[in-house]
Amino acid sequence: MWSATILTLYPEMFPGPLGTSLSGDALSRGIWSLEARNIRDHGIGRHRAVDDTPAGGGPGMVIRADVLAHALDAGVPADDTRPRLLMSPRGRPLTQARVRQLAEGPGVVIICGRFEGVDERVIEGRGLEEVSIGDYVLSGGEIASLVTLDACVRLLSGVMGKEASGSEESFENGLLEYPHYTRPREWEGRAIPDILLSGDHAKIARWRKEQSERLTRERRPDLLP
Ligand code: ADE
Repeated sequence: MWSATILTLYPEMFPGPLGTSLSGDALSRGIWSLEARNIRDHGIGRHRAVDDTPAGGGPGMVIRADVLAHALDAGVPADDTRPRLLMSPRGRPLTQARVRQLAEGPGVVIICGRFEGVDERVIEGRGLEEVSIGDYVLSGGEIASLVTLDACVRLLSGVMGKEASGSEESFENGLLEYPHYTRPREWEGRAIPDILLSGDHAKIARWRKEQSERLTRERRPDLLP
């Protein structure tokens, strides 16, 4: 079973939206599993402190290396082969290609950062892979980890309604998806493009490819060679 272990200060945020819809069904059918562990269980002292002020000064707080390493070592066996991701706006951007790799593997361990960041030594010492879901700053890694899990879980075999719907979508062919239409044939004076009703499948395929290329050129020229 594809399994996810999440280390977080807010375990109550899981499974959250992943408990419903496609991913929720797959969770109850045992296609994947989710375990959310509280980093604070490994905090220091009566107040279970997990963070401290940054060495060298500056704003915010930093998650302690010893606390996070202890949480990780207690929850994830040393011989566990799952990639260990640290959600962070500083990470490498998540791509559909990386999502596909993760979905094909045994699962993931995801650490959700909060505050200014985590002590660099635990990133090095435990081989954490920093991953960002985009160039904006969230208040913590929890929502980013839900995004990452959603993207992976829908690719697991038996999760998506129609297996084919995985390969025709945006990014899988390096382009954005072409526009879709359904009934009614005319809506508020807007008609479905004639070509889609022509029954000429070669022509339709060509039109869709052109539309994909046009949209990608207009919106995401960075995706083109
Ligand atoms: N934590 C805060 N912002 C984030 C982002 N953009 N991606 C991943 N984790 C984050």
